[in-house]
Amino acid sequence: MENKFTLALLPGDGIGPEVVQEAVKVLRVLEKNLGLKLTLNEVPVGGAGYETEGHPLPKASLKVAREADAVLLGAVGGPRWEQLDFSLRPERALLGLRSSLKLYANLRPARVFPALVDASTLKREVVENLDILVVRELTGGIYFGEPRGIEIQADRTRRGINTLVYTESEILRIARVAFDVARKRNKKVMSVDKANVLEATGLWREVVTELHKEYSDITLDHMYVDNCAMQLVRAPKQFDVIVTTNMFGDILSDQASMLTGSIGMLPSASIGGETAMYEPIHGSAPDIAGKGLANPLATILSVGMMFKYSFDREAVNAKVESAVESVLNQGIRTCDIMSDGMTEVSTQEMGDRVVKELEGL
Ligand code: IPM
Ligand code: MG
Repeated sequence: MENKFTLALLPGDGIGPEVVQEAVKVLRVLEKNLGLKLTLNEVPVGGAGYETEGHPLPKASLKVAREADAVLLGAVGGPRWEQLDFSLRPERALLGLRSSLKLYANLRPARVFPALVDASTLKREVVENLDILVVRELTGGIYFGEPRGIEIQADRTRRGINTLVYTESEILRIARVAFDVARKRNKKVMSVDKANVLEATGLWREVVTELHKEYSDITLDHMYVDNCAMQLVRAPKQFDVIVTTNMFGDILSDQASMLTGSIGMLPSASIGGETAMYEPIHGSAPDIAGKGLANPLATILSVGMMFKYSFDREAVNAKVESAVESVLNQGIRTCDIMSDGMTEVSTQEMGDRVVKELEGL
């Protein structure tokens, strides 16, 4: 088995560098335990890219990402860059990486750790043992559709335009990912669209249904996105795999994250190209940046996903998950998941506790 890997580290902005630093500790202990040789190449993206190189996705950073075996990203964005032209905003780095690396499938698992059942704002019985996987299309849809922009009309008032577009092949490949992962889970796929209003997602429903003929062992259902948003808080356990468009997946995965107690718990893997990218689903949280308050667990769990999807070591992912689980079982909490009787720790201490668990494994 391959044991030398080169990683691109893209800490980005806000709490990004803090959470990535904890993930690096985890990478180093895994390197030692598993006898690996990891080369970590850190490069700026997002606001950090703009400040150092004048662009959110500097060419050199993209090159490092492209040539790596896997990419670990923290978060991008912040109020400091909100006034910039769209083409220079930190978020462009993320979108540029996704499209340049052809990462069309974004896997966002929302699992409720037993110790955190009461951290959710929903009732215990609603979320207990919850395990959902949102499969979000990531390089198409309204995020990338043309035409787009803001134009001045003849009467001098402005008009903003975005385009929702999906081709049959884009739908087919993401649906295939969803059916394939469902096979390794509870064999249920919920395809989410707005087929009653939007033609592009009417096509989505047709194509997913056609492909389903190849997957007779999987149960396929369809749901409109508004209903899905409601069902996610009403009875989330009805879902196994949710497959949906770029924008619906963006929204529904934030919602699903709160079922687990905190958005600080959700990792993600973006796959489909040669180099996959791993990142927490949360943003850069500029309000708490640099204070040691951020929850590093989503980024640490993203490292686990990296071992599963990029390094062909599914067992390592399970180890990372159980290390996180055992730290939570000991009552250790960052402030976002803090509750009565638990011990509140900083970002760095949380990282250290996970490392300590992994040292013993
Ligand atoms: C996410 C984020 C990004 C998105 C932003 C930061 C561009 O919200 O990864 O979910 O909308 O995809
Ligand atoms: Mg989002």
